[in-house]
Amino acid sequence: MNLKIWFHSRLLGRKIGRYSYSAFRIVSSLPAIYNLFIVVFTLCRWALAEGYGACLINRPELVQDMVKQVKHQVEDPRFSVSIKIRIHDDLTRTVDLCRKAEATGVSWITVHGRTVEERHQPVHYEAIKIIKGSLSIPVIANGDIRSLKEAENVWHTTGTDGVMVARGLLGNPAMFAGYEETPLKCIWDWVDIALELGTPYMCFHQHLMYMMEKITSRQEKRVFNALSSTSAVLDYLTDHYGIDWTS
Ligand SMILES: Cc1cc2nc3c(=O)[nH]c(=O)nc-3n(C[C@H](O)[C@H](O)[C@H](O)COP(=O)(O)O)c2cc1C
Repeated sequence: MNLKIWFHSRLLGRKIGRYSYSAFRIVSSLPAIYNLFIVVFTLCRWALAEGYGACLINRPELVQDMVKQVKHQVEDPRFSVSIKIRIHDDLTRTVDLCRKAEATGVSWITVHGRTVEERHQPVHYEAIKIIKGSLSIPVIANGDIRSLKEAENVWHTTGTDGVMVARGLLGNPAMFAGYEETPLKCIWDWVDIALELGTPYMCFHQHLMYMMEKITSRQEKRVFNALSSTSAVLDYLTDHYGIDWTS
């Protein structure tokens, strides 16, 4: 079992010591093997303005200090600690950051192959490959992977130990099973899970919007995206896909 704790912006930088301790105490008491993810590169404007989020790639010593603090508070060897970064224009700085993080004891590093300034520019997979070649710990490649085939291509191209996918999986949670589009069963499963857990409506609806992006027309999207209640969503799905939620 993996527990992925995404340390969002507020848990980072100067606030990490204060906020993180109780989270660590909770997870430390759980009887399994867990991964602690330290996400160090949110692009939230306020975080960047305050010098953390993605900006932390420019402060390798602070990243080292954060990793040390996390490792100090979680001594259980079953926990792993990792960082996720973007790259610099000057890749030697990224390699330096990663080597410092490795020396401090991070278990692996995920690299989104874009600089902090880049948004929709192509991902620099060759940079990820160079980073991978410079380290002994596992490196995970991230950025613009939209299908299982692309995941395999990126994995081969970069020589990394794995890939991380965000938007591709939001759009199609069955991507790693080889599906090109979200299968109906997946939508069905999400509705079951969300209803069982009492997922807040906005989250429930938002995930369905992501999942249905590729399989609905613009007109259908306009209607579906404007729905504002769980019952309206269930009616829509029943009418359009013939799913009987009561069975
Ligand atoms: C809804 C959403 C939330 C995200 N939240 C974070 C975050 O908190 N921290 C972070 O480092 N990256 C975050 N990301 C960025 C992704 O982890 C990933 O690096 C980026 O989307 C590129 O990968 P992709 O092309 O597979 O989406 C988020 C992405 C999405 C779509």
